[in-house]
Formats: sequence, C-alpha cells, structure tokens
Amino acid sequence: MLDANFFTNADFESYRNLLYKESGINFTETNKPILVQRLRARLQECGIQTAKAYFELITKSREELKLFLDAITTNLTWFFRNQPHFDALERFVLPELIKVKKPKSDFTLRIWSAGCSSGEEPYTVSMLLSEKLPPPWKFEIVASDLSLKCLMTAKEGFYETSRISGIPENYLKKYFDAVEGGYKAKDTLKSHIKFDYHNLKNVSPWRNFDIIFCRNVLIYFDEPTQFEVVSHFWDSMAHNAFLYIGHSESLFGMKTKFEFVKTQWTTLYKRWE
Ligand SMILES: C[S@@+](CC[C@H](N)C(=O)[O-])C[C@H]1O[C@@H](n2cnc3c(N)ncnc32)[C@H](O)[C@@H]1O
Repeated sequence: MLDANFFTNADFESYRNLLYKESGINFTETNKPILVQRLRARLQECGIQTAKAYFELITKSREELKLFLDAITTNLTWFFRNQPHFDALERFVLPELIKVKKPKSDFTLRIWSAGCSSGEEPYTVSMLLSEKLPPPWKFEIVASDLSLKCLMTAKEGFYETSRISGIPENYLKKYFDAVEGGYKAKDTLKSHIKFDYHNLKNVSPWRNFDIIFCRNVLIYFDEPTQFEVVSHFWDSMAHNAFLYIGHSESLFGMKTKFEFVKTQWTTLYKRWE
C-alpha cells in the first residue's frame, strides 16, 4: 500500500517534463489523475514506495523507462473505428492513388499505421485492401507503436470475442480462425503487416508511404509536438499521398505543407508535391 504522499507536486513536474521529452505525451493538471493512477500501478508492480525513487530508476534504466512509457499510454482502439474513414479509403483514396501511381508504379501501395495500438487498425486496413484493391495492385503495411505490450498482442493477432464486434461477419469468416475464447487473424491477413517499435518523437527511417494512418494519437501531444510529428510524416510520404488523423484531431492553424482535402465521407490531408 502506497503512502498518500507518494507523489508530490515536485514529482509531477519531474515526471511531466521527462514524459514530454521522451514521448511527446503532454500531461496537464486535467489529465494528472491518469498519470497518478498508472504510476501507482507500476510502483506496486515494482515494489517501490515513492514516485521519487521510481523516477531515479527510470532516469538510470532505459529498459524500465520503456516499460513505464508503455504503462502510461492510452491504447483504446477497435476494428473499423470510424467507418467514414474506410469509406473514403475505398471510394476516394484508392481510386486516386491508382490513377496517379499507375504510370510509374510497381503496383504496390505502402501504408503506415502509426500508433497502431493492439493491431485493430492495421488488420482493418489489411482486410479492406485485400477486398478492395484490384489486381495487379499489392500492398504492404508497417504498423508501429511505443507500447511493447500492444505490439505483442498485435503480432499474435488473437482477439477475445468481445473485441471483434466491429468486424463484418463475412470478413470475420474469411480472415480469422475461431479459436478458444476468441478469434485469431489468419496468416494471409498478417502477411501484409510488419509490426515494429517506433517512438513518434523520433525521425522514422521509413519512406515513400502512400497512406499514413495516425488516428487518435496526436491528441496526446501539444501543438509543437503535433507539428514535429506531422512534419516527420511529410518526409516519410511519397508524392501524392494521404494522411489520416483522428476525427477529433485537426491540423488547423498549423503551418504544415499538407493540403486539406474534404471528401464526402471525411476530411484528409494530402502531400501533393
Ligand atoms: C488511442 S490509441 C489509437 C490506436 C489507433 N490508431 C486507433 O485510432 O484506434 C493511441 C496509441 O498511440 C500510441 N502512442 C502514444 N504516444 C506515442 C509515441 N510517442 N510514439 C508512438 N506511439 C505512441 C499509444 O501507445 C497508443 O497505442
């Protein structure tokens, strides 16, 4: 049992500065209770009594820092989250990309699911593209996150029955095997996706993406970090490529080079040059 004073105001300042520097995640007075709750749980797991002692540990051990970053992330996600995004993918983005890429193409679309959490987003995209992308087009997806726990779940591709409700029945039959307690993604679905650890605070080594999904991630960053992250995306994208962000997120007022694209289904951002 931790002492009521295990986390002081001075600790809050130290933690919020470190978390901001390492991950871009911005804790304010408003979301401080989330930090306290998650820190408390981690301290109890480690058998450490004070936030100060744990802070010393994470500033010495990169390994423990990674585990702590994992513990403080919010990983809520689900299959086919925000259907209008996928309607726009099928009816607007794919036809556009096919049209502009065709003359000089190896017929492969490259997609990045940045902040993929436990994999529902890249598996959704993999199902849709398997269904909707006409031959001879192929696709490959890079799916990345900061949370090692989430990446393990994503790689395994097993989801409890309660978590698969967003998947249409015919897709579920075709792309998942029913196993005890839930469903497991088939290898045909997994084979398109490469899961990898990547902290969006850092420049990515990846280039030439035709579509980037970074949905419901920017919301955890302040504006300078959002700008930094989307500028890295710009560098990772091909010419004529699309960026999806969450429906409650916006680049409004930010001096990015992205063109704002309003479709019938949703708004998107485009790298056109
Ligand atoms: C709420 S989930 C969104 C998942 C999915 N994109 C969706 O929209 O359903 C946010 C994810 O962003 C990840 N994340 C937060 N900060 C990150 C960072 N600096 N680098 C990489 N991933 C980060 C979290 O670990 C979490 O899995």
